[in-house]
Amino acid sequence: MELVLGIDLGGSSIKAGAVDPTTGHLVGELDSVPTPPGATVEATQAALTELIARFPQCTGPVGLAFPSVVVRGVTYTAANIDKGWIGCDAAAVLKAAAGGRPSFVVNDADAAGVAEMQIGAGRGESGVVMMITFGTGIGTALFIDGRLWPNTELGHLEVDGIEAEHYASARVRTVENLGWSAWCERVNKVLDRYQALLWPDLFIVGGGVSERYEEFEALLHSKARIVPAGLRQAAGVVGAALYAHENATR
Ligand code: BGC
Repeated sequence: MELVLGIDLGGSSIKAGAVDPTTGHLVGELDSVPTPPGATVEATQAALTELIARFPQCTGPVGLAFPSVVVRGVTYTAANIDKGWIGCDAAAVLKAAAGGRPSFVVNDADAAGVAEMQIGAGRGESGVVMMITFGTGIGTALFIDGRLWPNTELGHLEVDGIEAEHYASARVRTVENLGWSAWCERVNKVLDRYQALLWPDLFIVGGGVSERYEEFEALLHSKARIVPAGLRQAAGVVGAALYAHENATR
């Protein structure tokens, strides 16, 4: 079986890993390069080229988890990235960086959700499941009986007149120097809003902050069950690879 390369573009680094698509497991360590300042299309393509070259063992397709609405490889929004990505054929940018191999781009939260549903905290869960990633922004991925509704973008939903990601992202927690209880009070309001609109059975909490889940777990409340992401930091990489494999073999 060919190894598939999964890549996850975040606010500070671009992470990549070799994934066995039959198990969804990482083969070897994650590697990363810094996200270029401003993350313009050109600079990002150069960083991707460098990172991809470090994985000669990955001969299958390449998947990229990207913080934007992505429809058929084109990125349509740029809340926390360079505006040059709006309307850009990101799959073509990735393909050029990957030496022409089949290349697929997916929203980053959707990628993390795909991984969690297949081999993480959402495995075997039916009904409505919502993955939420807390990082530079807030990303959301919605699943109905395991099937993804892509590009839900509920991090931009207003809560008390403020966009959720400007109110309760992990970045906001750092910038405003919020303790866990002040931050969780905000997160609970966001969960309440999602719960009242979509009635999920389960929330999966992901993003970098989920590495410290034990420190704030007791402060989160919702009518829905809440669990931490099982794959933690690797979810985007694994999900991007699984997404690429699924689309390449379709
Ligand atoms: C973007 C989403 C992304 C999320 C998490 C938001 O600002 O609009 O596409 O999933 O950040 O990175």
